[in-house]
Amino acid sequence: MDKLRVGVIGVGSVVREIYQYLYFRSDFSHLLDIVAVADPNDEYRNWFCDTYKIPANRRFRSHKDMLKSVELDATQINTPDHIHAGPTIDSLEAGLDVVVPKPTAATVKDTHAMIQTARRTGRLMGIDFHKREDPRLKEAEARYQSGRYGEFQVAVWYMLDKLMVADPNEKPMFFATADFAEKNTPISFLTVHMCDALIKVVNLAPVEVRATGYSHKLPSLSPIAVKGYDLVDTEIRFRNGASAHIVTGWHLPNTAHATTVQSSRMICSEGMFDLGLDTPGYYELHADGLRQVNPLFKNFEKDGTVTGYGISSPGRIYQKFLAGRQGRLDAKIRDQMMTAAELGFYTSLVLEGAEMSLKQGHAIAKGVTAGATVDLKALLVKELGAGAAAEYGY
Ligand SMILES: NC(=O)c1ccc[n+]([C@@H]2O[C@H](COP(=O)([O-])OP(=O)(O)OC[C@H]3O[C@@H](n4cnc5c(N)ncnc54)[C@H](O)[C@@H]3O)[C@@H](O)[C@H]2O)c1
Repeated sequence: MDKLRVGVIGVGSVVREIYQYLYFRSDFSHLLDIVAVADPNDEYRNWFCDTYKIPANRRFRSHKDMLKSVELDATQINTPDHIHAGPTIDSLEAGLDVVVPKPTAATVKDTHAMIQTARRTGRLMGIDFHKREDPRLKEAEARYQSGRYGEFQVAVWYMLDKLMVADPNEKPMFFATADFAEKNTPISFLTVHMCDALIKVVNLAPVEVRATGYSHKLPSLSPIAVKGYDLVDTEIRFRNGASAHIVTGWHLPNTAHATTVQSSRMICSEGMFDLGLDTPGYYELHADGLRQVNPLFKNFEKDGTVTGYGISSPGRIYQKFLAGRQGRLDAKIRDQMMTAAELGFYTSLVLEGAEMSLKQGHAIAKGVTAGATVDLKALLVKELGAGAAAEYGY
C-alpha cells in the first residue's frame, strides 16, 4: 500500500479554505486517494466532487452509506463540531483511521467517547490543530520546556477574525451554513486554537474557567442579525496557579490588515516572550488595500503547490496513518499521538467550561455577560464520572 484511500465527510468552508489544497495540491497529495465524499448539502458536495472528478457513485448524502459502500483506509470529519463524534466513532468502528479538524468535539462527553473508541479499536485518530506545526510555537514550546523562562505566571493571547467570517449577510458566505455563527461561538471556533497551543507550550492542565462575553456587533447586523457573541475573554486557571486570558472574536472591520489578527504575550518568573502571529513579515501595499500575508500558514507557490503549516499539520497526521498501515509506525510515536492532550481533551474541557460559564452568567451591562466560575474537575466528574475524571488526572 502506498496511498491511503480517504473518504471525506463534510466539504464546507474548511475544505474550501484549507483541505482541498492538502488533498490535491500539496506535498502530501501523493499519499492520499480521495475516493468518496459524504455531505448532505448538494451545492457543496457537487462543488467539490465536480471540481475533483469524484464519480457519481462515490457521492453520498450520509456518511453511513459511504462507509457501507466504499473501501476506505481513513476518513476526515469536516462537519460542524457537534457532528464530529458520530461519524468519527462510526469510522473507527469500521476499522478506519480518522482526521478531525479542531476542536475534537463540542463537549467532553463526545471527546471522551471518541478517545475511548479509538483506544478500544486500536485505530489512530489525529486532531488537526494546525498551530502545533507553526515554527514560532514549536520554538516557544522547546524554549519554555527547557526551563529558560522559569514558571509560567500570566498570559494574554488573542485571535480576532474579520467580520466577514461570521456575517451571514456576506456574499458569498464564509460558512456553508447560514447559522454557523449562531450555533458556534468565538470560543469553539477560535479560543480552542490558542488554548491548545498554550497547553502545548506549558504542558499544564487547566483547572478553572471563567468567561466574559460581548454581544454588540453581531446582533446589529442587517438584514440577517446574529444572536451570538462578537468577542469572548476566557480566563483559564492552570494547575500551577498561572492564569491566561484568551480573547477571541469575529467582528473586526473587514478592512483589518489580516483575516485573523492574532498574537500572544507570556509572562513567566524568569522572563517573557511575545509571539507576533499575524506579523509574519510580508506586508502588502496594493490597490486592493494594505494587508499582512501569512505564507507560514498557507503559501501558494509558483508551481501551484500549496505549503505552510495549515497543510503540513494534517499532512503529517496522514503520513503517520500510512506508516501505521504499512506496519512501520514507531510505537513511541503512536503512543504520543494517542495521549489525551494530543487528542485535544483538555481543550474540549476548556471549551465546554467556557461556554457553560457564559450560560450560567448574568448581564452586567447592555450586551455584556459576566460568566460564572466553572470548576473543571467538577464538570468532568458530572459529565464522565469520578473514575474517568481520574484517568485524565483530575
Ligand atoms: N473554516 C475554517 O477555516 C476552519 C478552520 C479550521 C477548522 N475548522 C473546523 O472544521 C469543521 C467544519 O467547519 P466549516 O467551517 O467547514 O463549517 P461549514 O458549515 O462551512 O461546513 C460544514 C459542512 O459539513 C456538512 N455536514 C453537516 N452535517 C453533516 C453530516 N452529518 N455528514 C456530512 N456532512 C455534514 C455541511 O453540509 C457543510 O458542508 C468545524 O469543526 C470547524 O471548527 C474550520
